[in-house]
Amino acid sequence: MALHRLTSISVGVPNVAATAEYYRDFGLTPVGETSDGGRRFATREGGEQLLITYAPRRRLLSMGVGARDRDDLDRVRASLAGLDIPHIGDGDRLTVSDPHSRLEVTVEVAPPVVEEPVAVAPTNGPGRADRPNGRAPAVERETRVLPRKLGHLVIGSVDQEATQRFFVDGLGFKISDEMKGQAAFLRCSEDHHNVLVQRAPLNFLHHTAWEVDDVDEVGRGASAMLADHPERHIWGLGRHHIGSNFFWYLRDPAGNFSEYYSDLDCIVDDALWQPAAIEGARALYNWGPPVPPSFLAPDDLAELMTGSHAPDSGG
Ligand SMILES: [Fe+2]
Repeated sequence: MALHRLTSISVGVPNVAATAEYYRDFGLTPVGETSDGGRRFATREGGEQLLITYAPRRRLLSMGVGARDRDDLDRVRASLAGLDIPHIGDGDRLTVSDPHSRLEVTVEVAPPVVEEPVAVAPTNGPGRADRPNGRAPAVERETRVLPRKLGHLVIGSVDQEATQRFFVDGLGFKISDEMKGQAAFLRCSEDHHNVLVQRAPLNFLHHTAWEVDDVDEVGRGASAMLADHPERHIWGLGRHHIGSNFFWYLRDPAGNFSEYYSDLDCIVDDALWQPAAIEGARALYNWGPPVPPSFLAPDDLAELMTGSHAPDSGG
């Protein structure tokens, strides 16, 4: 695949200090500040992947996509030209704005994420004791949960189909699964989805998702986040049907959701994956607590819509 990863995102929030504190607690590593007070964060294996910076209302300011080489960028340039979408930049980097969601995307030549394979501990099951005479290693863990990488982000778009075309026909993302006319799970790597575009009454950031080692890390990470801040809880623990991942969603002080996830489907051979149109409850999850209404429609949507025609908004 010409594209191979998400690189980084910039999220604008009105409360930079409080939101930055949240992502430090979440397990991202602070790596410095920008000249205008933005806070930069890295993951264990994805490098610098998050910038929290000031904006009057929360919004996704920009996202980055990694490409393998300049030839891949030239293919993206040709595709964008075919759609009459202007872009800037040459050589190893180009920046383009989706005319529909107004999201700014930078595609750049970037090294791949190299993930150290997670060790799989033996488990017991009915009729087999593959871990005899011992406690599960997972219950002995005491280290902080530190996400490996930024895995995906979910955006609402006022024109879902047009934004989907921008990512697929313009940038070269592939469709993994769809909820026809409602949402599309798109990938630019071997992960089942890196961007999910959903129909929404305004353009906004629904959530970012950060990969951890396994379901125990999903649970341990969320439990640590909630110990002193129960108000951060949104939805979890559960397992999605689309993508298969375990999930637990939390809310940052600006209103963005962040997800710990593990065991996402991987598509290493495009020919062996059949995209499906999924409908009904399974579109949301396979098992878990009931979906809270605030997950489907975040509590601040009306407030965000009120400002959605202001010059500073639109992401
Ligand atoms: Fe997610």
